[in-house]
Amino acid sequence: MKTAIVAAESPGAIDRAVQSLRDGEVVALPTETVYGLAADALNPDAVLKIFEAKERPRFDPLIVHVADGAALQEVATIPEEIRGLVNSLLREFSPGPLTFLLPRREIISDVVTAGLEAVAVRISAHPFFNAVLRASGLAIAAPSANRFGRISPTRAQDVADELGDRIPLIMDGGATEHGLESTIIGFRNGLIDVLRQGPITIEQLQRFAPATIADRPSSVRAPGQLRSHYAPRTPLTLVGAAADFLGEERTRYGLLAWNYPVPRKIFAVVRCLSETQNLREGAANLFRFLRELDQVGLDLIVAENVPEIGLGAAITDRLRRAAVRGGTTE
Ligand code: TXA
Ligand code: MG
Repeated sequence: MKTAIVAAESPGAIDRAVQSLRDGEVVALPTETVYGLAADALNPDAVLKIFEAKERPRFDPLIVHVADGAALQEVATIPEEIRGLVNSLLREFSPGPLTFLLPRREIISDVVTAGLEAVAVRISAHPFFNAVLRASGLAIAAPSANRFGRISPTRAQDVADELGDRIPLIMDGGATEHGLESTIIGFRNGLIDVLRQGPITIEQLQRFAPATIADRPSSVRAPGQLRSHYAPRTPLTLVGAAADFLGEERTRYGLLAWNYPVPRKIFAVVRCLSETQNLREGAANLFRFLRELDQVGLDLIVAENVPEIGLGAAITDRLRRAAVRGGTTE
């Protein structure tokens, strides 16, 4: 299959994406977090194409994207006891990079939720994605547009590298704003369970209700939660400060730096997440730099710890998972 890459800004781009979705096709679309592989959430055959293209196991459920709060309530119910909390969170963070786990309505099929009673829903703030939602009137199922277990794509070219020849169409909206997948939350006894850390931080959520990182789940749940995920093919190790890293001879090291200036001596290739140590910039660069370091034939990627405050917690979470080798996802 030949994959077309079309500029999201070009005339007719919205109509073309909408038409593909209505035809039951998959389309890669930019969101404000990472690129998603989209399909009509109410068309099980279309949704199955997502699983095929990604080689994603069927037990791994998909996020459903909707245009607004009214559309959200067509796919999920908001239980009375958390209605106030959910509405406050929606007002503050939606549209945006926050995904809610809520009881699903019947129109959402088992294919989407992998048989779970909760559906993950998010209102995307990306102007193109949101325009496609509105123009189509569809609910759109979309996981990150990478092969299962791999690094999420933050540019159209990343999607082509991951899924080229497997999908007909990629809409190119440039580099994504946040560069990390959305924060996923569930609710328990009026408290917020953070199932995946992301652009909306625990600190931000805690202004609304006590929020804690969910215990590592035993049963189903998400590969975003499997220990080895977001994995580059090159081994990766986390260190405190690269300046203290003692390399060995005849080994090609790459550095993913947090501190600046960076020690260059033993590193063949260096990428600095943010020269001004800005966490937003660091998050936006993270997956792109991991991909670049993964493509230059290194023996080891050395990554510096990032401060675990605010967005730094989500960056650290991704780096720790990238450091786990031989996990169950590939
Ligand atoms: O930013 C994002 O969330 C991106 C963009 C495209 O929206 N999407 C994304 O989807 O990261 P995905 O499928 O790569 O990651 C979603 C995670 C998966 O780990 C999945 O297992 C989990 O959310 N998930 C989805 N539905 C769920 C459900 N009903 N219950 C528990 N976990 C769920
Ligand atoms: Mg993913």
